[in-house]
Amino acid sequence: MTGSTEPRLTTEDLGISYTHPSEVKVFEHVDLTITQGKIVLITGKNGSGKSTLISTLLQAHAKGSIKSSGRIKILKGETLNYLSQKPAFHLLTQRVDEELASPLGFKRVPREERRHRVIDVINQFNFKPTLERNPLKLSSGEQQLLLLMVGKISDSDIFLLDEPFSMLDKTNEESVISALNVLKGLGKSIVVVSHRPPLNLLKYIDNIFLIEDFRLKQTSIPTFKNHLEHLQEFVNSLLSKSTQKERNLAIYWDSMISVGRAEMLFQCPPMNINSGEIVCFSGSNGSGKTTFLLTLHGSISPLEGSVTKKAKTKFVPADPLLFFMDGEIKSLLKEYKIDKMDIPNKFKSVETIFQLSEGQQKLFGLFLVFFSDTEILLLDEPTFALDSENIKLLLKWLSETEKTVIIASHEVLLFGKLPNKSYTITSKKAIKMRR
Ligand SMILES: Nc1ncnc2c1ncn2[C@@H]1O[C@H](COP(=O)(O)OP(=O)(O)OP(=O)(O)O)[C@@H](O)[C@H]1O
Ligand SMILES: [Mg+2]
Repeated sequence: MTGSTEPRLTTEDLGISYTHPSEVKVFEHVDLTITQGKIVLITGKNGSGKSTLISTLLQAHAKGSIKSSGRIKILKGETLNYLSQKPAFHLLTQRVDEELASPLGFKRVPREERRHRVIDVINQFNFKPTLERNPLKLSSGEQQLLLLMVGKISDSDIFLLDEPFSMLDKTNEESVISALNVLKGLGKSIVVVSHRPPLNLLKYIDNIFLIEDFRLKQTSIPTFKNHLEHLQEFVNSLLSKSTQKERNLAIYWDSMISVGRAEMLFQCPPMNINSGEIVCFSGSNGSGKTTFLLTLHGSISPLEGSVTKKAKTKFVPADPLLFFMDGEIKSLLKEYKIDKMDIPNKFKSVETIFQLSEGQQKLFGLFLVFFSDTEILLLDEPTFALDSENIKLLLKWLSETEKTVIIASHEVLLFGKLPNKSYTITSKKAIKMRR
């Protein structure tokens, strides 16, 4: 940390356009100042340019596809720490202690001092997993925390965090928020980019900006809270999904199924799901929701019991990039037998999914399956990466579809009364929730 009060990072009149296949302006005239011991929040709709701004600050764009203007100034000697929303991609080692010590290895810090620094940071961040755990097997929340601790050990000055909360359940979200507050207390500068930041974060924020109409605008917390409350009102107004009078079984299991790969994650009671119904499963990070959907899909066998399906299922993973086998919009529409005329306007002018922001990719994947001929949809974290407006669109598709939809989500409250049945996974059991 420098003792200087000079801004660590400033941008002057920064502008970015993507140039391939045609020119798309993302933002212009961005003047941003990042100082010590502050947390800056940058928010905005899906596709507004948040991730582009972060990669511009990192100067990490693929060459040739971008046109930029203006200037970025970083105070001499200050170091950046970038965290994408896919923490697993950043992990380097097989053990928690090795991961934490990795920046010290490069700096040739003696072994004993390395050990002390690792223990100190663990205590400071109240990190629970043991030193010998494999980082790749931690939950995404624990991985995010671990990487923030690595950033602290490497003594980075500026933390650039792209959507650090989108994968996290409430407990992990709280741990990451308090970790950010620890870093702030140490004088670090933190930039958080988020399309739906948790309300609990707002009390630690020093500055909040909105990217809108190609500009970065300073905004206030009350205006921002209003925005989130609108979504809540919309969710509260949802009615329960009406089901067809004539009930046909779509998917069922007559006896308890045990979900897991090598070891059992949870048990699910016998269940009949009729066509046209929506069933929601909630649970914390690591409770086994994804494994459950893959079990219903048939990619994993249950450890006990069996599942009967009356129609084809489609599994939609949380991460949109894992969903697409092909990046070309034209061939995806062909594969899902959808006419180009029927696609929402925002997707009409793009050729590949790589020209879409993460939230736009997620929405496009959901659009394909809702308008395909598959009868049973298995949606893993369908609200992941979506802003409020796109969540409303998802809820509209859900309330109008005749498909059977099984949802796994840690944001189950966002579905309001829409699901016909809801279950929560606790203490290795799926338990029916009362309506
Ligand atoms: N490689 C690319 N080529 C062309 N256009 C792109 C490319 N990458 C992104 N875009 C466009 O730039 C805009 C900004 O994208 P960006 O990923 O920065 O948005 P974002 O605010 O991070 O969105 P999200 O909330 O969905 O993550 C979007 O409209 C997107 O369609
Ligand atoms: Mg983004």
